[in-house]
Amino acid sequence: MVYENILIERRGEGPRQTGLITLNRPKQMNALNDALMDELGAALKAFDADAGIGCIVITGSEKAFAAGADISAMVNFNLEDSYGGDFITRNWETIRTIRKPVIAAVAGFALGGGCELAMMCDFIIAADTAKFGQPEIRLGIIPGAGGTQRLPRALGKAKAMDMILTSRMMDAAEAERGGLVSRVVPFADLMTVTLAAAESINELSAMSVMMAKESVNRAFEGTLADGVMFERRLFHSLFATADQKEGMNAFLSKRKATFKQR
Ligand code: HXC
Repeated sequence: MVYENILIERRGEGPRQTGLITLNRPKQMNALNDALMDELGAALKAFDADAGIGCIVITGSEKAFAAGADISAMVNFNLEDSYGGDFITRNWETIRTIRKPVIAAVAGFALGGGCELAMMCDFIIAADTAKFGQPEIRLGIIPGAGGTQRLPRALGKAKAMDMILTSRMMDAAEAERGGLVSRVVPFADLMTVTLAAAESINELSAMSVMMAKESVNRAFEGTLADGVMFERRLFHSLFATADQKEGMNAFLSKRKATFKQR
């Protein structure tokens, strides 16, 4: 696929590298349209299938991670276009299917669908310039890509209702206090810190990384009892891997583990 709305790079030196995706519609503050989402889905799938990639990072620009769904694309939509055409959502499901970790590196505005895209990533590292919001209500709509579900899970009901009903933006410090983002760093350090986090994941055993991701996600989709049992079965199965032997023997021998990905 030819990418016109995103930039694709590989970063890192080791046997497994980081797939870096940069949203790139600068004039529209990275507003998300079907073309961009199709490209994002294709790039995520390609990195997920690539054995040389251990982790994926999605980022935007200094001004905006993404300012939401493209309002000019949907202004004249009717029900047939939105529901019948499964507007945008058809591409969003791709992100949920990615098995490798996906980190969002957010600077500037992450609004509406942009905030929802960041929340669909496995964790968010924010620059001190980041601003999160779900301002859809001002447009006469509501969040449509998981915002009303993921924001309360991340921040609790009070803050989620406040943001969704008043459309106020939340800065990076408040987002970190509330648990929406995992860390806040100065803007100048955003990519260094995020790529270092990705690099540290690249060095691990891919099977344990994917199972850890799958198991944490399960915490949001079922009961505690089901989740704990799911985790236990994955935990047990990792003792079938050579990487478990290597990880534990390396610890006991006081050396760094070298995982063989099997
Ligand atoms: C289309 C957008 C856009 C968007 C910004 N632009 N956001 N175009 N869709 N979501 C365009 C502007 O029209 C403008 O184009 C250019 O980007 C720069 O924006 P400005 O408004 O001039 O910049 P600024 O004053 O700095 O304000 C930045 C901003 C503001 C706070 C981010 O642009 C804004 O409020 N944007 C809309 C945010 C929003 O409502 N998002 C939710 C969308 S609905 P020109 O041509 O004038 O230079 C949604 C639903 C998701 O996301 C559902 C998923 C299925």
